[in-house]
Amino acid sequence: MKKLIILGCGGFVGSHLIDRLLASGEYHIEGWDISFDKIAQHRENPNLSFHQRYINADTTFEEIEPYIADAEAVISLAAICTPAQYVSSPVKTIHSNFIDAYALIDLCAKHKSWLMHTSTCEVYGRTLSSYVPTDDYDDPDLYEQREDETPLIMGPSKNHRWSYATAKQLFERYIFAHNSENGLPFTIIRPYNWFGPRMDFIPGRDGEGVPRVLACFMTALLDGKPMQLVDGGDAYRTITYIDDAIDALQKMLEGPKNSRDQVFNIGNRGGEVTMKGLAHLMRELAAEITGKESFLSHPIEDITGNKFYGEGYEDCDRRVPDISKAESLLGWRAKTNLRETLRITMADYFERYGRD
Ligand code: UGA
Repeated sequence: MKKLIILGCGGFVGSHLIDRLLASGEYHIEGWDISFDKIAQHRENPNLSFHQRYINADTTFEEIEPYIADAEAVISLAAICTPAQYVSSPVKTIHSNFIDAYALIDLCAKHKSWLMHTSTCEVYGRTLSSYVPTDDYDDPDLYEQREDETPLIMGPSKNHRWSYATAKQLFERYIFAHNSENGLPFTIIRPYNWFGPRMDFIPGRDGEGVPRVLACFMTALLDGKPMQLVDGGDAYRTITYIDDAIDALQKMLEGPKNSRDQVFNIGNRGGEVTMKGLAHLMRELAAEITGKESFLSHPIEDITGNKFYGEGYEDCDRRVPDISKAESLLGWRAKTNLRETLRITMADYFERYGRD
């Protein structure tokens, strides 16, 4: 049985990864998280040892170290990753994504243990396209994101939106530094808006604050309030189904020769949509899933980023992954289209939270 360590095993991605890995029967997992609600179904599984802790350099890593030396891989998924918090709690965001976490890299380097780290597509920041005349916006060379070539373009330090992306970027750079100085084996994964059941929360029901866009729009649909389009809803995202993303992680784990010491974009190029387009599609699917035609005319309103998130909000304009590395080294590409991804995800929300 192969031994794995998963930090952040109780979150959205961790819960899906654990479902998959435990079903294979090949792994024993030592998992750390503050909550196990999303993996409660595995509580009695002898192949999962759950450590309920806040992951913090001062305390947790001493406890993790004895497991690191003989682990097949250390998978790090724990992070604050909701833009509302980057703006309202930038100190906490930088702690969670770098200060509280970098000791893990030191430990993996010390034991030469394979660190699989989920970073973010947000490290690319804005595209080169957003700085050229509009006519050139659709030149792929100016917006497609290539792991080992594309520059990482952040806004000014006073705009806290980038607190998260820069902390994530430094984490990646620290991994590369340990790789070249101390031979740390690593894989860095850059997720592109992975969507699926159990993602985020509905404010006031099973969480507090402002979640990511899917849960914001679902809250509006469930509570009969307007869906809000930030800064016109013109920003693009490429939406990727969680099961497809888990396929990629599994291929990396099973093929270390091809996945070690690489950075991979894991995103669905075909799932590109503006936030305005997403709101319209979600209204249509809400009507389809529930049979209630009233959803087709559910109100949509505009709001500025500074009003919605607070001063210091900026946005990534577009994120289109070049996935040729994932295709050639892992034999991976997303299989599930945008409509199907949303249909499955929204059906889960309607089932879990109901209406009325
Ligand atoms: C976040 C994280 O910062 C990324 O690291 C992560 O990779 C990504 O989520 C993800 O889910 O993979 P972002 O896509 O900006 O990035 O987060 P969302 O809150 O989902 O926002 C997406 C877009 O929707 C933004 O343009 C935002 O302004 C807009 N939005 C959000 C609305 O128009 N209305 C809302 O109610 C909420």
